[in-house]
Formats: sequence, C-alpha cells, structure tokens
Amino acid sequence: MSNDGVNAGRRRFLVAATSVVGAAGAAGAAVPFVGSWFPSAKAKAAGAPVKVNISKIEPGQQMIAEWRGQPVFIVRRTEEILKNLDKVAANVADPESKASVQPSYVDPKLRSIKPEILILVGLCTHLGCSPSYRPEVAPADLGAEWVGGYFCPCHGSKYDLAGRVYKSQPAPLNLPVPPHSYESDAVIVVGVDQEKA
Ligand code: FES
Repeated sequence: MSNDGVNAGRRRFLVAATSVVGAAGAAGAAVPFVGSWFPSAKAKAAGAPVKVNISKIEPGQQMIAEWRGQPVFIVRRTEEILKNLDKVAANVADPESKASVQPSYVDPKLRSIKPEILILVGLCTHLGCSPSYRPEVAPADLGAEWVGGYFCPCHGSKYDLAGRVYKSQPAPLNLPVPPHSYESDAVIVVGVDQEKA
C-alpha cells in the first residue's frame, strides 16, 4: 500500500524536458547556421534519439517524454511495485515478453535495464490509444485486485507496471520497450541501443 498518503500532486505526470541528441546549447534564433546544429522536425519524426533527464522522477512517479512523435512513459518503480510484478505474473498474457517488442538487453520479466526504471512506448497495442498511469492499489474503479498498472481508456485493456498486458484483454501484446541506453544515472537516451551507447 505504498501509494497511501501519496498526494495527488506527486502522482501527476511530469512532461519531460527532452532534448535531441546533439542539440544541447542554445537558443540563438538569430544565428544563421543554427539549423545545421539542430535536427529538423522531419529528422526528429524519423527517429533521432532524445535525451531525457530522469533525475527528478520520484519513486512511484511517471514522466512522459516524446520520441518519434510517440509518448514514452518513464517510471521510477518502488520495491513494492517490483514485488507486485511477481504476484501478477500468472495473470499476464506474455510474462517474459516472448511475443512482445523489447530489446534483447532488458530483463525479460522486469522489462528494463535497471530494475527501478521502466521505459515504455505509451501506445496501447490494441488500436494505439495512450493508456493512463494508474499506480494506485485497489482504486474503486479498477477493483480490489488492482496492484497498479496502466489502463487504456479506449477499450479497457489493462497492463501491469512492467507494461505487460493482462490475459483476455483487447490488446494482444505488452507495451513496447523502446531502444534506450544510459548516458549517466540521470540521463537516458531513447532511440540508442545500450550496446552502441
Ligand atoms: S486502444 Fe487500448 S484497448 Fe483499444
């Protein structure tokens, strides 16, 4: 019940301040060659990596970054959240993500490089809505068995806090884990594989 007492403010989403790799530095609209330093909007849409500072995410909190025009969910999981992943393993459709999209270098069950940091593409594998982060335990609308996860508002698919879809949901697969790597403990790069970092 680690979410007891956590105020609503701490649970609200943070919108990430992302920066495109190589784009650090500054503003300078008047600098004529600035365009050559910053990937164009088209390049970003095509998949330029994005750096995200994750140091401000508190335990149990999610922030949302953007990569390739898609939301990327980043959660700092608590010990309790990690324990609950084992409890729900029998109820999820693809517990080790054998059929789902995730890089080979993430743990098959935790679906992450570091246990506490979860990184997912935030689009439902049914028809692409963005699921809601619902970390509360046993909220009235999701029932007594709910230990925290994602709920898709479009057709009701439910995922755990590793992005693993529960059995018998409209969504067929787990939420994808994007390629990512750690530049430091505080900064991840979404779109660059760990091995190549
Ligand atoms: S798009 Fe998520 S359940 Fe249909």
